[in-house]
Amino acid sequence: MTTKKKPSSKRSVTRRVAKKVSQETGVDPKVVREAINKEILARNAGKSLGYLSFAGILPVDLPDGTRIAVLPDIHVPAHDKLLLWAVKKFLKDFQPHILIFIGDVADVFALSRWGRPPRVSADMQYELDETRRLVDELMKISGCVHTFYIMGNHEDRIMRYLKDPATGVANILDPNTREPIMSFHGLMGYGKGDPVTFLYDLDERSGYGGAIVVNEDMEFHHGFIVRPKPGASPLADADRTGRSVSHGHTHRAGMVSRDMGHKTLRAYEFGHLTDPTHPYMGYANLLNNWRQAIGAGEIVGGKVHLQPLAVKPVKSTGGKLVNALVFNGQIYRASDR
Ligand SMILES: [Fe+2]
Repeated sequence: MTTKKKPSSKRSVTRRVAKKVSQETGVDPKVVREAINKEILARNAGKSLGYLSFAGILPVDLPDGTRIAVLPDIHVPAHDKLLLWAVKKFLKDFQPHILIFIGDVADVFALSRWGRPPRVSADMQYELDETRRLVDELMKISGCVHTFYIMGNHEDRIMRYLKDPATGVANILDPNTREPIMSFHGLMGYGKGDPVTFLYDLDERSGYGGAIVVNEDMEFHHGFIVRPKPGASPLADADRTGRSVSHGHTHRAGMVSRDMGHKTLRAYEFGHLTDPTHPYMGYANLLNNWRQAIGAGEIVGGKVHLQPLAVKPVKSTGGKLVNALVFNGQIYRASDR
């Protein structure tokens, strides 16, 4: 007996979004997804096709009208739950086609090599489960066609932790995927066919080396150069490569540009979404100049146009100050409880 396979909810979401892209851009509804898949497959020639991870810098061509949302340094479970309420409302309205997690989505506090306060509990499985739950929720609520999850240095804590005492074990590959058995996305439970690509560095480690370059115009990576002033870190990065860059990592938010005559180098850093008072964030202090923010943008004229949306306190209906971000004339307030 043959049974007709029921389409998964993820696939129906993809179809709905593809239809929307088609209506807005006048191009084929499958363009965004096919462009991404083509790039992944072309650059993944050394492996069996279809893996959901990529090691190195992945070029991606996106058509005009594609909306992009960038979510920086969430550090689950040390994220600002009240602010995420506002971010979810923003994503629901904005409906980005592409969602970019730009690293440090998970804190991986349980495997930190830094000294841990003795009464602060740590549970790695809990961190993985909570991260997966939030990532899935944000992907679903945004209605995105595809998600890029760029590995941060915090995700790399897993591999560093294992490599130190047990390099031989850490280097064992999963027989089915030929990826390291302790890969972050494997531990999170993602598999082939999920609408997400995890970007690792060339050694298949997390942090620093994994990136996507959109339309040969803007590189998105987690970040590694750290300067004290907002905007200075990505600008130093852009000066190094001659390419416009967006990153997280520093937890500062800013944007600067440099006129090169024939082109304008743009440099963005997108802040963070952590709760600086959470016990896992013991290294947060005022001198860090941290700023909560996210990024929003759109492909216009083949170029990536972005803006950091910095979070600031506004009065709630009860007169209480709550954090909020503003986009397109709309205020997205954090929950006040
Ligand atoms: Fe971070």
